[in-house]
Amino acid sequence: MLQKAIAIDGPSGAGKSTIARLVADELNFRYIDTGAMYRACTLKALRANVDVEDEAAVTAAAESADIRLIAENGLPLIFMDGENISEAIRGTEVTANVSAVCRYRGVREAMVLLQRGYAEDGGVVMDGRDIGTYVLPEALLKVFLTADARERGHRRFLEWREKGIGLDMTEEDVIADVIRRDELDSTRELNPLRRADDAVLLDSTSMTIPEVCRAIIALWKEKTADVL
Ligand code: DC
Repeated sequence: MLQKAIAIDGPSGAGKSTIARLVADELNFRYIDTGAMYRACTLKALRANVDVEDEAAVTAAAESADIRLIAENGLPLIFMDGENISEAIRGTEVTANVSAVCRYRGVREAMVLLQRGYAEDGGVVMDGRDIGTYVLPEALLKVFLTADARERGHRRFLEWREKGIGLDMTEEDVIADVIRRDELDSTRELNPLRRADDAVLLDSTSMTIPEVCRAIIALWKEKTADVL
C-alpha cells in the first residue's frame, strides 16, 4: 500500500536535512532524520569505549540505546537514554566513525524498525541513504537529492564554521571527508546509498533552498492529486 511519505535520499551535504525539515513544516508532516539515528548509535559506542571495528560490541551498544526523535517547539531533537544529544552527535569524532558503525546489519535492523514505526503514524518526510530503496519502498514520493561533490563540501564547511564544528579542518579537508563518506556509504554491502528506480533526481548544485523545496512540494501535489 502506498504510504503518505516523502523519502529523500542522497549523499552527504546535498541539503537533505534542511530541505526535508522545510518540506515537512510546509505539509505539516513529521520530519525523521535517519542519519541522526546512526550518529546516536555511534555516540553510544564511542562513549562505551567500544572499538568501532568490533561488530558485536557496536551492535550490542546500538541495541541497548533508547533512541527517540522528538519535535520540541518545532525543532527536531534527538534523545538517547533520556539525554538530548542533538548537538553531541554533530561532533567530528562521531562524523568520522559513523560510516563504520552504520554498515553493521544489527545496527541497521534496529534503526530501520524504529524508522518504519515512525512512518506508521501519518505523514512523514524521512531523509537518509536507503529510505526509497529499503526503509519505505512504498513512499508516495521519492527524491534523490544530489549536488556536485565540491559544492557539497563547500556547504558543509560553511555550516561547520558557523556552528563552530571542526575548526581545525580546512575547506579541502571537509571536501575530502564528504567524498570519503560518499564512497563508504555507496559501496557498503548492506543497503548502500543508491537512487531508487522510481526516485526523482534533483541536482541542487545551482538551486537555492527555497527552489528545491518548491520543486518537492510541486512533485508531492502532482503525485497525490489523484491518490489522496
Ligand atoms: O546524513 P548524515 O550525515 O547525518 O548521516 C550520517 C551517516 O549515517 C552517513 O555516513 C550515512 C549513514 N546513513 C545511512 O547509512 N543510512 C541512512 N538512512 C542515513 C544515514
